[in-house]
Amino acid sequence: MPRKSLAARVAAAAVLVSAAIIPVTSASAVTWGANYFPNVPLTTQDGKTVHFFDDLLKGKKVVINFIYTKCGDSCPLETARMAQVQRILGARMGRDIFFYSFSIDPVRDTPAELKSYAQKFHTGPGWLFLTGKKADIELIRRKLGQQARAEDNELTDHSTSLMIGNVDSGEWIKDSSLDNPQYIAAMIRDWLSDYSNQGPVKSYTEATPLPEYVSNTGAYLFQTRCAACHTIGQGDSVGPDLLGVTKNRKREWLTNFIALPNVMIAKKDPLAVSLYARYNQLLMPNLRLNDVDLKNLLGFLEAQDALPRGQAKAEAPAAR
Ligand code: HEC
Repeated sequence: MPRKSLAARVAAAAVLVSAAIIPVTSASAVTWGANYFPNVPLTTQDGKTVHFFDDLLKGKKVVINFIYTKCGDSCPLETARMAQVQRILGARMGRDIFFYSFSIDPVRDTPAELKSYAQKFHTGPGWLFLTGKKADIELIRRKLGQQARAEDNELTDHSTSLMIGNVDSGEWIKDSSLDNPQYIAAMIRDWLSDYSNQGPVKSYTEATPLPEYVSNTGAYLFQTRCAACHTIGQGDSVGPDLLGVTKNRKREWLTNFIALPNVMIAKKDPLAVSLYARYNQLLMPNLRLNDVDLKNLLGFLEAQDALPRGQAKAEAPAAR
């Protein structure tokens, strides 16, 4: 499945919360939390009863997916992927980030079934597997825009998306659970909580260092905004190989070109025009980067150019 641009996903998600007001028909005696999510009772893999809004959502930052334990194709991969993401998020799991995997086969998926499934994937704190009444789970699925379409098999055709939400601010996005785990973790962290919101840390020495791909914003930006068209040191792709570009071009030109390639070409900047002609007249997109993004990206490109030959990396490190 082609990956949507970040902006498209954010836009799609912004629509979700405001537009997905669905009349309730399937569950009785529903109490509404924050006027949108049903506060239906659910059972965890440990047999504990919890309420969807009050216990799982209210005040939390959450990642939600839908699985069933008898699933032979996408769910095991999805769960294994989330387990990788859980390890990357480390101590934040269960502190300010919570994962919830809902069974879409709640009759067969008893708490005991879910518990043994969770154990197979070594899931840790902050990750609940939930079952409940079929109608209630169906309602949760619909409220999150994850219901099966009429023509689909409600089990086998379920979506493999993760719904990532900051419940208090009402912001939700959808991400593929099959993405690179470093990328998913970065999405969750960036989306759910900026760095100022990390919770109390007694001393900076307690903070675990983050992998370069996540902690170096320049690398992250390159990976998410540029790497589809450019490599660094691995040859031309849709656009030119960018190895050496910070040495071969003036910094001012480079900054202007990355920020406003369309304007540079429109103004007939000679170098921009000749690159445009050389690369099949595909216009490098104006990605609306702000000054901080530009600084981080240029810092990343410069650091790549300063590495000994052959060591620049345009790709994120392989998934753990
Ligand atoms: C959709 C493909 C695409 C994306 C995404 C893209 N570029 Fe480009 N880029 C190009 C093309 C094509 C060119 C050649 C110039 C042209 O045709 O406009 C180019 C040219 C460049 C150049 C000039 C290279 C030189 O030799 O001077 C730089 C620098 C550059 N891109 C950086 C970036 C950065 C940084 C990003 C991410 C923020 C990015 N590009 C995203 C397609 C893309």
